[in-house]
Amino acid sequence: AYLGIDLGTSSVKIIAMDESGKVIGSVSKEYPVYYPQPGWAEQNPEDWWTATRDGIRELLYKTGLTGEKVQGIGLSGQMHGMVLLDENQQVLMPALLWCDQRTQAECDHIMKTLGRERLSEYTGNKALTGFTAPKVLWVKKHHPDIHARIRHILLPKDYIRLKLTGEFATDVSDASGTLFFDVARRQWSAEMIDFLTIKPSSLPACYESYEPTGGITSQAAAATGLKTGTMVVGGGGDQAAGAVGTGAVNTGTVSLALGTSGVVFACQEQYSVDPENRLHSFCHANGKWHVMGVMLSAASCLKWWVKEICQSGSDAGYDRLLNEAANVPAATGGLVFLPYLMGERTPHSDPYARGSFVGLNMTHGRGHMTRAIMEGVGFGLKDSFEIIRAQAIPVQAVRVSGGGARSRLWRQILADILGMRVDLIGAVEGPAYGAAILAAVGARQFANVEEACAAFIKVTDGVDPQPASLAPYQAMYQVYQGLYGTMKETFK
Ligand code: XUL
Repeated sequence: AYLGIDLGTSSVKIIAMDESGKVIGSVSKEYPVYYPQPGWAEQNPEDWWTATRDGIRELLYKTGLTGEKVQGIGLSGQMHGMVLLDENQQVLMPALLWCDQRTQAECDHIMKTLGRERLSEYTGNKALTGFTAPKVLWVKKHHPDIHARIRHILLPKDYIRLKLTGEFATDVSDASGTLFFDVARRQWSAEMIDFLTIKPSSLPACYESYEPTGGITSQAAAATGLKTGTMVVGGGGDQAAGAVGTGAVNTGTVSLALGTSGVVFACQEQYSVDPENRLHSFCHANGKWHVMGVMLSAASCLKWWVKEICQSGSDAGYDRLLNEAANVPAATGGLVFLPYLMGERTPHSDPYARGSFVGLNMTHGRGHMTRAIMEGVGFGLKDSFEIIRAQAIPVQAVRVSGGGARSRLWRQILADILGMRVDLIGAVEGPAYGAAILAAVGARQFANVEEACAAFIKVTDGVDPQPASLAPYQAMYQVYQGLYGTMKETFK
């Protein structure tokens, strides 16, 4: 068997997959996110490790797998987060997460000093608040004492790798999200290391996602029940691993992820950047590249609505609210929801953007509002989808994953808004499944990632667009697109 570990934002999800690609067990363990100021988001790396260690132990117990049976482990996780360690491998401060928005001034500084074109030449991307490089500059400015003690800079999943294997290592897809990685050449960017005045020795060794990076230490074996020496592959950022998990490993297949964040991801055979860097250009986990657009709040909008506002976070509560939403028509009577609860990345790159219901009237009820939220997230994804289409990147199939993909209604709404069939594959926990597949490739069960995906990934359900919904959604998308510009100033 293989283990796939996805260190998410709300929880770690760990799955065990057998040699035929079947998921034979899974566990999930939550940990808190701290929001010390509006727009800030932090977590304690120690919480990640405690949850992962206990989760592995529990999964082995639940599935009856012994450590010897596990042939390889793949890691995936939330991208861009900054974990800083001192010379004793102690965590220097809470990790600043991908959705943390405190670094606009640092992004402006990077863009102004280097210029977008030069930055794009070095990294394939522009400076965005979530990325790791501006976070390093923020610490330098606001906590010079901590900055002076940095010996290691790691991404979230790679802190777990350190705990499991004792190695400082990462993979090309996750490294792509730092803004100090040369995506075209698949190596750290000497220019950016220089610009950020960080020591090259503080960065981990970088591997392809399917390459072995080390083995389980005896200490980690004792803590988890795994066997000493069990191989851990590079793994991938959650989006690249998720795309492996849905089989988006060739041009033409687009992966949609409806997790805390919302992502439209298109695989590319060759490296390319969009002329204005509206999309991220990153390395894929199969040796290729990809472009993607990222919404900061997707399934989290619905979770916020159901849990915080409607106070009905149980499974039955979700079902009741989603039933109400299913019983109101598409494009709910002119009600539009802007999903910018944490600011927005693609397409607006605006940490100050905010959520909003626009167009409420006396005929609207809770069902309309729930549906408007699901539609607003759909429109946000369409924004990225349209940029991908405009680059003449072929889109032949769309596959959806993430917690939000469990809702058939949401999949139907996406199909109707995008005007495309939306497929679901067997395992909705895309990133953990993709990570396990990468482990299978690392263990040489397959010659490459594409071969593994072809053997394991099956479409289990698909929804086609309903002709009657296309026109109302097109009309409403026009309204949605105009609203950000109209309201932008009021968000400041
Ligand atoms: C990708 C991104 C998010 C996180 C969330 O660029 O920021 O999808 O990886 O898990």
